Amino acid sequence: MSATTTRPADASGTFALGGDLPVNRLGFGAMRLTGPGIWGDPADPAEAVRVLRRAVELGITFIDTADSYGPFVSEQLIRQALHPYADDLVIATKGGLTRSGPDAWSPVGRPEYLRQQTELSLRHLGVERIDLYQLHRIDPQVPLADQLGELVLLQQEGKIRHIGLSEVSVEELVEARAIAEIVSVQNLYNLANRRSEAVLAYAEAENIAFIPWYPVATGDLARPGGPLDTIAKDRGASPAQLALAWLLRRSPVLLPIPGTSRVAHLEENTAAALLTLTDEEFQALADAV
Ligand SMILES: NC(=O)c1ccc[n+]([C@@H]2O[C@H](COP(=O)([O-])OP(=O)(O)OC[C@H]3O[C@@H](n4cnc5c(N)ncnc54)[C@H](OP(=O)(O)O)[C@@H]3O)[C@@H](O)[C@H]2O)c1
Repeated sequence: MSATTTRPADASGTFALGGDLPVNRLGFGAMRLTGPGIWGDPADPAEAVRVLRRAVELGITFIDTADSYGPFVSEQLIRQALHPYADDLVIATKGGLTRSGPDAWSPVGRPEYLRQQTELSLRHLGVERIDLYQLHRIDPQVPLADQLGELVLLQQEGKIRHIGLSEVSVEELVEARAIAEIVSVQNLYNLANRRSEAVLAYAEAENIAFIPWYPVATGDLARPGGPLDTIAKDRGASPAQLALAWLLRRSPVLLPIPGTSRVAHLEENTAAALLTLTDEEFQALADAV
C-alpha cells in the first residue's frame, strides 16, 4: 500500500492556522462520540476510542471538539484515546454554550464562565495550552469585547494559542478582529446549504480558516438519480465522499470536519481526500443546488 492510501488525509493539503500551526485540511469532528442529543456517553465507547485512533492513523491532524459535547464526554474520550498526543495533532475545542439536557444549547459568554470552561477543557484534554479555542456562540447579552477580551487574556497567559469564532456573520467577524486576532470561523456550510458564502469569501480573502460543520449533509441531492447519485456511480464513490471532495475543491481555506461514531464511515470519509473532481463534476454539483 502506498503512503497516500495508508494516510489519505495527507492528500487533502495543508492549511496553517494563524500562519504557524499547520494541519491537514481534512479533519475530524468529535461531536458524534457522545450519546443521543450530544448528551452523555456514546452507545459504544470502545468504538469511539477506535474511531479516534484510526483517525490519527489515517493522517488526520485536526480534531474539532467542544466542552459542551457530552458535556465533557468528547474531550475526555480524546484524551483517553490519544494522550500523549502526536506532535502534529491539533485539537480545537470550543466554549460558550451551556447544556441543560439532550439537544439543549444556550449561550453564556460571561468572562468568568469562559475562563472556567477554558480551565476545564485544559484539564479534560490534558494539555497546558489549547491550540485553537473557539467561542462557540456570541452571547447577545454580553458585550463582544468582554467575551473576546477574556479569551485574549487567556491567550496572554499562555492557556490558549489561537482564537476562533463559530456561527458568525461578516460584520461580527470584522467587529471581533478589532478585539482579537481571529484565525478561524466555524459556520454551517455544505453542498446543500451555502448560506455562509459571504463569510467564506471574506475568510478566503483574509486567509482565515473556514471550518464548515455538517459537511457530509447531502440531503435531497443524494436521491436516486439525483446529481450526487449519478456522479457517485460514475466515480465509484459515495455521496458523502463527493460532498467532502467538493468542499476540499471549493476553497483552500476550507477545513471540513466530518463526524462519525463508526470506523467504517471514518475510513470512507477520509478517502474523499483522494478523490479529485473534474471541473465539470465540481460545477455540476455546485449547480445542482
Ligand atoms: N460550531 C457548531 O455550532 C457546530 C455544530 C454542529 C457540529 N459541529 C462540528 O462539526 C462536526 C461535523 O458536524 P456534524 O456531525 O453535524 O455533521 P457531519 O459530520 O456532516 O455528519 C455526521 C452525521 O452523518 C453520519 N455520517 C458520517 N459519515 C457518513 C457516511 N460516510 N455515510 C453515511 N452517514 C455518515 C453520522 O452518523 P454515523 O455516526 O452513523 O456515521 C452522523 O449522523 C461535529 O463533529 C462538530 O465537531 C459544530
